Amino acid sequence: MKIYKERDYEAVSKRAASLVANQIKAKPDIVLGLATGTTPIGMYKILVEKYNSGEISFKKVRTVNLDEYRGLSDTDKNSYHYFMNEILFSKVDIDLANTFLPNGMAKDPEKECQAYERLLQSLGGIDLQILGLGENGHIGFNEPGTAFIEKTHLVDLAESTIHANARFFENIDEVPKQAYSMGITSILGAKQILLLVTGESKAEALAKVINGPVNEEVPGSVLQRHWDVTIICDQAAASKLGEV
Ligand code: GLP
Repeated sequence: MKIYKERDYEAVSKRAASLVANQIKAKPDIVLGLATGTTPIGMYKILVEKYNSGEISFKKVRTVNLDEYRGLSDTDKNSYHYFMNEILFSKVDIDLANTFLPNGMAKDPEKECQAYERLLQSLGGIDLQILGLGENGHIGFNEPGTAFIEKTHLVDLAESTIHANARFFENIDEVPKQAYSMGITSILGAKQILLLVTGESKAEALAKVINGPVNEEVPGSVLQRHWDVTIICDQAAASKLGEV
């Protein structure tokens, strides 16, 4: 694991954007695994700036997102599809036909999960997977206790995740109880992984991911088994690294 401790959120976003931009330059038709949440927003904003200044193009880039709420459509303001359109896709020259997320409105969850896995394969696998970290150590929506062997699957969200994500919704009852998520096996298949972690509320989870035992109670800990992981965190998130 390569670990960069940056001063603050802004510095994390800058370093992450540079890393992603360099990979896009090296492979213009890169398959990027994208994450949602608040953590990568700063990185996406800088990537849009780099596109506006002519430094990078998304023309040939292909994207697959980690997860999507079940029951929310791409026009629902709380769906991850809507988020991606707003924050990145509508602001760069990406071909929307090359952007993929699980379909939250799928009628048959099992089929949707299988189709998403087939899609990952047909793209030739993920070159660079961007990840955030849940306060309980989840990656994507792989909650504590998820078997490492899982591929894309339908998840019952943990109560703590529903609470943590309620801030985006009018009230907590509107937070979907289920979501589609790439599984740990799908994520570990990526050639390179970039984990972004900011804020004190993630400090304990990050310490366990880096220094703790690898076990399914801390899904992110499985990253210790991947051969090419870069972690970029701020000082607040790194504050408990000495303790675990
Ligand atoms: C959410 C998402 C994850 C994200 C994580 C952290 O539940 N499913 O993909 O990484 O929680 O979110 P945030 O960056 O807002 O703290």
